[in-house]
Amino acid sequence: MPNYENIIVETPVEKVGLVRLNRPKALNALNDALMSEVHEALTGFDADSDISCMVITGNERAFAAGADIKQMSGQSHIEYMMTRSVSDNFNFTRYKKPIIAAVSGFALGGGCEMAMACDMIVASESAVFGQPEINLGILPGGGGTQRLTRAVGKALAMEIMLTDRRLSADEALKYGLVNRVVAPEIYLDEAIKLAQKVASMSQVAIRLTKDAINKAYEATLAEGLEFEKKNFILLFGTEDRQEGMTAFVEKRKPHWKNK
Ligand code: CAA
Repeated sequence: MPNYENIIVETPVEKVGLVRLNRPKALNALNDALMSEVHEALTGFDADSDISCMVITGNERAFAAGADIKQMSGQSHIEYMMTRSVSDNFNFTRYKKPIIAAVSGFALGGGCEMAMACDMIVASESAVFGQPEINLGILPGGGGTQRLTRAVGKALAMEIMLTDRRLSADEALKYGLVNRVVAPEIYLDEAIKLAQKVASMSQVAIRLTKDAINKAYEATLAEGLEFEKKNFILLFGTEDRQEGMTAFVEKRKPHWKNK
């Protein structure tokens, strides 16, 4: 594994790749170096046939407190326009395998956006979600205005982004932002267990299902239904589909070949 400076990369259990954001003194503020290491690690796991699902986490105090304000403060709008795309940083649909965010403590600004870019979120009871960019005279540039609005609805999204209203973990659960809330001692284990569950399924079916769900964000209903139909038909041609149905009839567990 490459020697990273801002993240720690592990395989805590079979088939699960874990990326830990590791700038604790800066509450895991997302600077360029950290983001490029995250993408390098995710790209590596995505290409690794021994890995089926990925987990991103921070530490107990902070998932990530946002983009690195100290780094951003020295940058110009021309630089942003010509050489950077913050939203590209949080385009995780480029990865084929599902990604789960395990969030404890602050998930603010780009931290909240990174969690939302993942496919599922497991939160610790201590998690706090927010988009405080308004305090800096900017707006959430990593997908927050779009993904948070789709997740929690317009009225609450407006309040969060216009007034820096923060959501507790329980509120995030109530409003559909996260999958589950668990005790701080077990949030990472719980996310890894969820990843193992995903990894135990047919990975061809997982791949096409993830793509079809993500299509719901990009397409009209008619286009999305068409995409779903094509993926459904595609899965009928797989060995795993035959195995899954035969195993059901024979009252046994399926043995997936991911083919
Ligand atoms: N960027 C750079 N450094 C950060 C940071 C950030 N986003 N968040 C925290 N830090 C640093 C602090 O500067 C501090 O470092 P020093 O000790 O060297 O001063 C260290 O982390 C600890 O932070 P605090 O002392 O502030 O800790 P706290 O417990 O008092 O407060 C906090 C925690 C409420 C999260 C507070 O740090 C804070 O408000 N952080 C900024 C949150 C924010 O505005 N995020 C949005 C960033 S913009 C963005 O993300 C744009 C986008 O859409 C991509």
